[in-house]
Amino acid sequence: MSILSIRNLQTEFRGPAGIARAVDGVSFDVNPGEIFGIVGESGCGKSATCRSILRLFAGATARIVGGEVILEGTGDLAQMRESDLARVRGREVAFIFQDPLTALNPTMRIGKQVAEVIRRHRKVSRTEAREAALQLLRDVHITSPERRLDAFPHELSGGLRQRVVIAMALALQPRLIIADEPTTALDVTVQDQILRLLKERRDGTGTSIIFITHDLGVVSQICDRMAVMYAGRVVETGSVRQVLDHPSHPYTRALLDALPGQVSRDRDLTPIEGSPPSLITPPSGCRFAPRCRVARPCCAQGAAPVLKPRSGVSADHLDACILTEVPDAIA
Ligand SMILES: Nc1ncnc2c1ncn2[C@@H]1O[C@H](COP(=O)(O)OP(=O)(O)OP(=O)(O)O)[C@@H](O)[C@H]1O
Ligand SMILES: [Mg+2]
Repeated sequence: MSILSIRNLQTEFRGPAGIARAVDGVSFDVNPGEIFGIVGESGCGKSATCRSILRLFAGATARIVGGEVILEGTGDLAQMRESDLARVRGREVAFIFQDPLTALNPTMRIGKQVAEVIRRHRKVSRTEAREAALQLLRDVHITSPERRLDAFPHELSGGLRQRVVIAMALALQPRLIIADEPTTALDVTVQDQILRLLKERRDGTGTSIIFITHDLGVVSQICDRMAVMYAGRVVETGSVRQVLDHPSHPYTRALLDALPGQVSRDRDLTPIEGSPPSLITPPSGCRFAPRCRVARPCCAQGAAPVLKPRSGVSADHLDACILTEVPDAIA
């Protein structure tokens, strides 16, 4: 049984140029204790998908217009009243943003911020909350935690700040953590430490994690299953080994050739020509067809192709390319 089941999710942003369907029919499941990776080029809807789960939209222009976000044992978050969803945030599902500074209050000492997260949801004394905050800083391997409690965010390095944000995410022992490029702003060594920290948490407590990244090397390092998104839709999903070792959708193949990361270290990088389409007026048929090296005229017709199992491979490995139904068509 999955802990999170997203079905045909559709989210729109209203802007001066029109309505962009940033998430257009996205479905995937996250299993208990699993790290689920979401990859894709900039603007393909990774953040919009994950913010839709908790309706964490900045500004009032975003709206979920269809689909379900079923959190096991809790129900459909997409239908939930804002006041009920507020209780799910942090307590059951926590969100870690790319930039730790946006998640921290610059004018409040670290210890107080972490303690407040606890006090907002649990009836504990000020002293107990501070004790718990100290333990959380220890849990995320912050050195001299007693001293850091009294520091302000700007007094800490980027890596330490992200550890504090992770400590705040862990504070209420959520069942699911959504991490939106949590290491992009950090240097490689620190990035590695943060990844190990998240993995350690999963191994220790069985928390599920959704991990958004541009880096396929990171996906290969820490994720169990993954989804590849393009222009607001999932075009391929499966176990990391299936998708990265046997990519079937031409977009996944192109991404593997284009992005740096350990999976493609031995090969020359080939950028994907062109850019993703407008989500206000997306092209008909497969949205990748205009950039696809193997596209045929039929690819650009009709509705966007849906995910289907790759015949004969694994029931869990799905792709949305109509050509992969033809044996060897894109080999
Ligand atoms: N607040 C907003 N208002 C209007 N459009 C938005 C807003 N946020 C995102 N979008 C649009 O939604 C689409 C998906 O954006 P999203 O941020 O989900 O992409 P992403 O895959 O997370 O990209 P990145 O890798 O750059 O973070 C983009 O086309 C973007 O222009
Ligand atoms: Mg994003």
